[in-house]
Amino acid sequence: MTRKMLRGRLLTFHREPRTGADTGAYTYLEDGALLIRNGIIEQSGPFTEVAAQAGDVPVTDHRPHLLMAGFIDTHIHFPQVQVIASWGAQLLDWLNDYTFPEETRFASEAHCARMAQAFYDQLITHGTTTAVAYCSVHRSSADAFFAEAVRRNMRMLGGKVLMDRNAPDGLRDTPQSGYDDTKALISDWHGKGRGGYVITPRFAITSTPEQMEMARALAAEHPDCHIQTHLSENRDEIAYTAQLYPQARDYLDVYQSYGLLGPKTLLGHAIHLEPREIDALAQTGAHPVFCPTSNLFLGSGLFDQAGLSARGISNGIATDVGAGTSYSMLQTLNEGYKVLQLQGVALHPLQAFHWATRGNACVLGLEDKIGTLDPGSEADVVVLNARSTPAMALRMERASSLAEELFVLQMMGDDRAIEEVYVSGAASKSKTESRAIHCV
Ligand code: GUN
Ligand code: ZN
Repeated sequence: MTRKMLRGRLLTFHREPRTGADTGAYTYLEDGALLIRNGIIEQSGPFTEVAAQAGDVPVTDHRPHLLMAGFIDTHIHFPQVQVIASWGAQLLDWLNDYTFPEETRFASEAHCARMAQAFYDQLITHGTTTAVAYCSVHRSSADAFFAEAVRRNMRMLGGKVLMDRNAPDGLRDTPQSGYDDTKALISDWHGKGRGGYVITPRFAITSTPEQMEMARALAAEHPDCHIQTHLSENRDEIAYTAQLYPQARDYLDVYQSYGLLGPKTLLGHAIHLEPREIDALAQTGAHPVFCPTSNLFLGSGLFDQAGLSARGISNGIATDVGAGTSYSMLQTLNEGYKVLQLQGVALHPLQAFHWATRGNACVLGLEDKIGTLDPGSEADVVVLNARSTPAMALRMERASSLAEELFVLQMMGDDRAIEEVYVSGAASKSKTESRAIHCV
């Protein structure tokens, strides 16, 4: 049994703040503590109270920094760590010119293993303790993804993409092989360690109707698995999808008609939606995922967070690396703020930090395990330093509230603002940084 205590300023959310003044939505303690036993938060509260009951436990004092639940990234592509920052194209050309060629390299197990290590190092360095990832079409990419998650004891979700058309040689499965590989991966990895398998038809363009039938079967046979795909990111994508699925009432209907929509479904982007699609999202409980840095990078469009949430639809927020341009959920909130500003909406920093933690946990249905610092939660914790650069320190001289501090972190923060990251109670960022990056 291992026990430890973390001391610091502590912020955790109980529900989504309705406004910046909604203080009942969160707990903020100037001198707080977490008592951690075997990777689980046992107690959370004022330092004096937790310490009085803890007995002789080693304490790591992170004051004056801020302890929060680790960030959750609800949409990211593991095989795109060497695609990020590829110039000058919108979605379909970007996929064909940069992304698909890069993903073919994941046929090599050695490449998968090296990239998995690099990918997880980036997540940890940026304060992300859970991510929902697309692997490549190759079973070996998902094997490497989950093996590394187990090795690091991280709560990670992901799956190999199903894609059987409109992609180059070496990057297509078949309806049968995609089904068989997914079954094998679920059996090998779902529920192993903290891993969860996600059934992953990449998007309508790269799956034949026969493959969508297989995705339907997989979803029906494994109702405890999440499902993820892409929806209505780009106008040319939507037009091509309509050609490929002429019977579908709209883009979302492709997925709906194959029984793929429910509360465990994550739909990346969901920018250009018809009224019927919005109704169907509200009815089925499927979750759009907002990917601001990606949407701006590919010129895809502006996600309507306010309109969708007014309909009771709860949205995730995510990096979407490699179309996304940063692994940092702080930078993702920064760009998200600007996307909403362009639509006349000012996202409050308390709402933003709720979104990247408990909000994304709720989207995944995992808020009893991750996303808060409540007793019983897994001890995935990020330590934030709002004075991590000279420019931030200068700005912080004039900040007098928690909300101001959070906004500085959101607008100016990146991996440098992440002092430490605990995964299942184990200090992980310092460990990652002390290990040399492997080069080929
Ligand atoms: N649609 C289908 N595949 C992808 C992908 O890899 N990235 C993005 N942004 N959109 C997609
Ligand atoms: Zn994506």
